[in-house]
Amino acid sequence: MLRTKTCGELRRDNVGESVTLAGWVDAVRDHSGILFINLRDRYGLTQIVFSHGINTEQLNLVRSLHPEDVVQVAGVVQLRPDGIVNKKIATGEIEIQADQIVVLNRTQVVPFQPSSPELPSEEVRLKYRYLDLRRPAMQKTLGLRHRITKVMRDYFDELNFVEIETPVLGKSTPEGARDYLVPSRVSQGEFYALPQSPQLYKQILMIAGYDRYFQIARCFRDEDLRADRQPEFTQMDLEMSFVEMDDIIETINGLMVRLMRDVLGRELKTPVPQMSYDEAMERFGHDAPDLRFGMELIDLTDIAAGVDFRVFREAALMEGGKGRVRAINAKGAAEKYSRKDIDGLNSWVIEQFGAKGVAWFKVDAEGKLASPIAKNFSEDQLRKIAERLDAKPGDFLLFSADTFGTTCKVLNGLRRRLAAELGLIDADEMNFCWIVRFPMFDWDEEEKRWVAMHHPFTAPLKTDLSYIDNAPEKIRAEAYDLVLNGFEIGGGTIRIHDSQIQSRVFDLLGLSIETAKSQFGFLLDALQFGAPPHGGIALGLDRLVMLFAGLDNIRDCIAFPKTTKASDLMTGAPSNVAKKQLDELAIKINKENK
Ligand code: AMO
Ligand code: AMP
Repeated sequence: MLRTKTCGELRRDNVGESVTLAGWVDAVRDHSGILFINLRDRYGLTQIVFSHGINTEQLNLVRSLHPEDVVQVAGVVQLRPDGIVNKKIATGEIEIQADQIVVLNRTQVVPFQPSSPELPSEEVRLKYRYLDLRRPAMQKTLGLRHRITKVMRDYFDELNFVEIETPVLGKSTPEGARDYLVPSRVSQGEFYALPQSPQLYKQILMIAGYDRYFQIARCFRDEDLRADRQPEFTQMDLEMSFVEMDDIIETINGLMVRLMRDVLGRELKTPVPQMSYDEAMERFGHDAPDLRFGMELIDLTDIAAGVDFRVFREAALMEGGKGRVRAINAKGAAEKYSRKDIDGLNSWVIEQFGAKGVAWFKVDAEGKLASPIAKNFSEDQLRKIAERLDAKPGDFLLFSADTFGTTCKVLNGLRRRLAAELGLIDADEMNFCWIVRFPMFDWDEEEKRWVAMHHPFTAPLKTDLSYIDNAPEKIRAEAYDLVLNGFEIGGGTIRIHDSQIQSRVFDLLGLSIETAKSQFGFLLDALQFGAPPHGGIALGLDRLVMLFAGLDNIRDCIAFPKTTKASDLMTGAPSNVAKKQLDELAIKINKENK
């Protein structure tokens, strides 16, 4: 080894020891002829002093150093003089009196300094990712990520799970996103699909008798990216045989207790609360509600049906009972939102959620509702609205009148935005909940067909199976999502293990027998060879790490992430390839379509 100690481990007890350290120059300082270096490695920072006992040549060498040069220093550990102990770093009580320095490698001038508290743009960080990854904050997050997967592996090992790898070059699985395709050279014109998840393989493993499977699996989805989505991400994927929903939930609750304790040193009370999908949509307008604050959605459709205000009345009386008028009460926030701010909220909901607008009232000192639209309501109607919303002087009330779906989107959006703006969220809280009993199918208005809400291998609740022919919208699924602080961190289902029910579901989804056979024939076949009842779940590892690390985007939890345009700024992927490679694959680029 080129070192005997790391830059993070020396303490008062080591005083007098001769040591050799190696690392990156974090900073060089010259205090009237006495030179100091802060030397950094993954483990920490140590101050090195160059004063007596070192020759001029070596002193000049130190003077010539730049931040991020790589050096090796030998010397003796000594206590820092009183008064200059640095309590901010673990090695702050000591320093190394150097007697030799060797430059191991010089750096070019760096585009940014990893030690600087000021970060450059994310583009620069991603292009020079090796410098960004030198930052202690990044090293801490990747360390946390390692710790989380280690705890997961230990936990599942203790419960008799086996970790089994499934192929990356596979067949398209219908998780709902677009596939990444890989052309085959051997079978020209044919393609592999990168897995959107190991879903079908893990079901096959249950049929094969493995009973308890897990895998830290890489998944690929070509979808629009956001702060919590990457084209390439990692799942903690599992599947179990002879189980019911509660068994999976209990297994994951146990994992969360372990992770909270071993990684964050915190206790998690179990069982983690559960809420039905319907209740979540009714109270929060979203299937991954953030329960760290209140501001729940309140329905006013009945009152709205009788008012003069056209926007409300028309929504309340919408054909087929599809419309709703709902509101949130931002307590005490009336003074915090000016007319200009409200105009901003109005255009935001129009742009973001395709809404027609947001209506509002402020509650005045006498408890009366004030707004330009107030003239369209009778005193009695205003009183009823105020009562329903528990409106008190100083409250700010926001309304959405639209289809149920749009009111959900608008009020969920406003609820989250206002909570952040009003500082209602305790950033320290870790609020878990399960959302259960999802609808099995969703009507796709564009394609005019039913689509699977989770995936087409999900089992319907036994009690709802009879609706399959006449009222698919009524079928609830044996599906469950784990939510943490308003993010969906996992989702799973009990699967269909009967090939006939599976064929009927494919049929309802508009998959012809031929398509189903060509895409999932192997699963339909396997289901006929003694498939045990089984179910599972996948946790989004990147999102879990993000929330455990208290971060707000998953790019900071991934060593080499992609931008929102799905490119890697460091390597330049995706990039052109040589014509020879394309010829081998019989692929011709149609530039006009590019
Ligand atoms: P699902 O599609 O819900 O289920 O995915 C499981 C979890 O993976 C995370 N996730 C993502 N994280 C980052 N970037 C993405 N693009 C992304 N997409 C999903 C989410 C999500 O909850 N095969 C099923 C699981 C099962 O049924 O067992 C599946 O993949 O946190
Ligand atoms: P209007 O009478 O159309 O000028 O609308 C009056 C107010 O109602 C404006 O502040 C609009 O932003 C708001 N508004 C319009 N459509 C809706 C809607 N669907 N839900 C809630 N508020 C709306």
